[in-house]
Amino acid sequence: MKTENTVWHTQQVSKAQRAELKQQKACLLWYTGLSGSGKSTIANAVDALLFQRKCHSYLLDGDNVRHGLNGDLGFSDEDRVENIRRISEVGQLFVDAGLIVSTAFISPFRADRALAASKLAPGEFIEVFIDTPIEICEQRDPKGLYKLARAGEIKDFTGIDSAYEAPENPQIHINSANKSVEQCAQQVVDYLVEQGLIV
Ligand code: PPS
Repeated sequence: MKTENTVWHTQQVSKAQRAELKQQKACLLWYTGLSGSGKSTIANAVDALLFQRKCHSYLLDGDNVRHGLNGDLGFSDEDRVENIRRISEVGQLFVDAGLIVSTAFISPFRADRALAASKLAPGEFIEVFIDTPIEICEQRDPKGLYKLARAGEIKDFTGIDSAYEAPENPQIHINSANKSVEQCAQQVVDYLVEQGLIV
């Protein structure tokens, strides 16, 4: 519920000034893809490369955030929408702090990703589609969840009995199946350099 008697305070130190301290421009790398597609692994590898370059970055990861901030949410469509809404808000705050933020969530619905994008300035939202076919995700099945979903022991599993709406025009499109994690991570870093977001 929005409170009617609160007033927005503009801060004296701007996002650009905070980012300038680190010689970077603030942005949000929004990773999306099926469970087991490699979102967290690639996002972690990018984060490590950014750290090596002395960029100030931070990664918000689906499984981790669901242990705390979003611990009250499940996997119904409604809960996923709320999950992504909260992450959009947190992502926006981190961007406002001048950071290069990464979010690694399935984020299956286009409308929710569009909402996250709408909260940022042009060029700040970078959709990174980890395009790994479900057959490969299912073969990998790192957490054994596909097996449980196929057995009907987990309901509403993305790609099986819950929808995944693939991005139509992602800024970065990664076909992870034929590439190493390092190559995928480098593709993201190259994009950031090309766009002048990092040096
Ligand atoms: S979402 O759709 O964006 O709200 O999901 P997210 O917060 O990224 O959480 C996905 C991780 O939760 C585990 N998990 C499930 N995923 C999909 N569907 C169902 N029903 C489900 N139940 C548990 C799974 O480990 C996901 O992690 P990743 O890293 O994507 O494999």
